[in-house]
Amino acid sequence: MTVNVAVIGLGHNGLAFCEEYAKNPKSRLIAVCDIDQERAKYAGEKFHAAVYTDYSVLDIPELDAVSIHTGDSAHKEPFLLSLKKGKHVFVEKPMANRIEDVLEMVQEAEKHPNLVSQVGQVLRFVRQYAAIKRLVDSGFFGEIAYLEADYIHDLRYQYFMEKWKVTDEIPMVGGGCHPLDLMRWYAGEVTEVNAISNHITYKEMREETSIVATYKFKSGAIGKVTCLYGSPGPCPDMYNLKIYGTKASLVQRKICIDALGSMWIDLPSELFIPSHPYGPEVDHFLDCITKGIECAVPAWDGGMSAIATLLAAESAKDGEKKYIPSLR
Ligand SMILES: NC(=O)c1ccc[n+]([C@@H]2O[C@H](COP(=O)([O-])OP(=O)(O)OC[C@H]3O[C@@H](n4cnc5c(N)ncnc54)[C@H](O)[C@@H]3O)[C@@H](O)[C@H]2O)c1
Repeated sequence: MTVNVAVIGLGHNGLAFCEEYAKNPKSRLIAVCDIDQERAKYAGEKFHAAVYTDYSVLDIPELDAVSIHTGDSAHKEPFLLSLKKGKHVFVEKPMANRIEDVLEMVQEAEKHPNLVSQVGQVLRFVRQYAAIKRLVDSGFFGEIAYLEADYIHDLRYQYFMEKWKVTDEIPMVGGGCHPLDLMRWYAGEVTEVNAISNHITYKEMREETSIVATYKFKSGAIGKVTCLYGSPGPCPDMYNLKIYGTKASLVQRKICIDALGSMWIDLPSELFIPSHPYGPEVDHFLDCITKGIECAVPAWDGGMSAIATLLAAESAKDGEKKYIPSLR
């Protein structure tokens, strides 16, 4: 079966996904959609796809799947409509940037168990993080006591490019959902969050730009995410990922199994050969549709990462601990 796909939202992320659907033999990119007519026309010509500027794209009878790449606060409407019209759906992270929206989306996905709804928590498709997941699952680290990971990015160039990122984006949600999702993947469900924040950097953004969130996990583990936008410098190596367990520890690219902590061993360098994860992410979505394999990041799972970071942002605002509901 070849999956007929439409991509909605044709900014840099949506265009990169168009490339992936166009080159994957399991899919055919039949339509593109953006409210910006110029962007839609450009993508239509480039990918030989039908051009749409509204959601009537969802009425194409032969359409099987929709891939949503609009801004963070504009995921809900096309997501709900796609499912109601019987289409499989891929939606970028964060699933949404309001708790009510996430809940509505997860509920709708659950009404359609025969349709795939995948959330774009992309780090699960990055080679080195998948290798670490295999180590975690094999018991290599023993019982995980503490983990941390950061999203620290100088994103000020976006001020001139995509205005919604300044007016709408919540850094802890848009950026922080990446490290938090990784930590959930490794240590299981989060149950509580406390956070503090300030707005010293990137003052043009509406939301606070430096935040430290501490999490409790159902397993008893504890963890920390720092999210910071607008300080000079590239994102730290491996999102500053650290995992400390009873048998082994990991600090970015190094692991230690020696009780005295004197032997740090590099992870195999093959894990770090650059490769882009959108290809494997798209391939997985198509395999879920055509082969019925279990989705790696179904709606409830991506929804948990969105809600856990939304509650961190709320905790930073009112200074109160937040309990994280389970969506399972
Ligand atoms: N997984 C990742 O690593 C990753 C990386 C970058 C962006 N993202 C996510 O991808 C999404 C898009 O990000 P971007 O950087 O491409 O943003 P962007 O602003 O460059 O593109 C968004 C596009 O959506 C269009 N759009 C907005 N509302 C629309 C609507 N109702 N119907 C059709 N089109 C509409 C806009 O005109 C724009 O072209 C965001 O949710 C972002 O967080 C994920």
